[in-house]
Amino acid sequence: MGVPADYDEDPERFRLGTRVTERYLTGTSSLYERVAARLGGDVLDIGCGEGALSAVPAEAPVRIVGLDASATMLRAHPRPAVRATAVRLPFKDGTFDAAVAVNMLYHLDDPVPAIREARRVLAPGGLFIAPAISRYDSPELAHVWRREPTCFDAEEAPDIVARVFGRGRVEVERWDAPLITLPDQEAVRDFLTARQVAEASVLAGRVHAPVAVTKRGALVLARR
Ligand SMILES: C[S@@+](CC[C@H](N)C(=O)[O-])C[C@H]1O[C@@H](n2cnc3c(N)ncnc32)[C@H](O)[C@@H]1O
Repeated sequence: MGVPADYDEDPERFRLGTRVTERYLTGTSSLYERVAARLGGDVLDIGCGEGALSAVPAEAPVRIVGLDASATMLRAHPRPAVRATAVRLPFKDGTFDAAVAVNMLYHLDDPVPAIREARRVLAPGGLFIAPAISRYDSPELAHVWRREPTCFDAEEAPDIVARVFGRGRVEVERWDAPLITLPDQEAVRDFLTARQVAEASVLAGRVHAPVAVTKRGALVLARR
């Protein structure tokens, strides 16, 4: 089952996660910078949220169209922005030079229909980019919290994308480094709360802070 989406009911939970990452990031570049560096031309940001990708200065000229299922998220996204589901994209075949899905495919019961739709709206040679979080992310917090496996973890994501695009068309860039440093228990509590962990305050008390948290995942890239 997909990770439940609460972006209309509790947008502050998602916003807290964004703030924690921005504030305590100690790595050299954010995930959005890594993705944005690959983009050019007409880009569809599938599950765009409040526009973290659009906010990154692009290296090449880009025109980003945001698409999201949540009306609350879309209100904060720069125009153009479309409310729709990733499994039925309201665009003609071959419309975009790139299609991106940052941290959204794990919300689906099965990511394959959405990846097929992303491929359909790409022009020939167009680029699909989907970061995926590892099942073994944040090992320093494993004694209080472990991510539940999802349908699009970094361990399987490259194979899932290859099923749609073809094996020879997929590339993977992995990361495995201490990218976030949580300075105190309040920061640990916020990190856990943003990940929908119950009793985050109690569990944060069992973590020795400051703690450098190792982020593990993979950027999956595929060419149509
Ligand atoms: C974790 S947020 C990521 C938002 C944005 N990509 C970012 O990284 O800041 C996941 C987003 O996917 C959206 N979403 C979830 N299921 C969706 C679906 N079936 N179709 C389109 N968007 C969806 C949610 O509304 C939410 O904005």
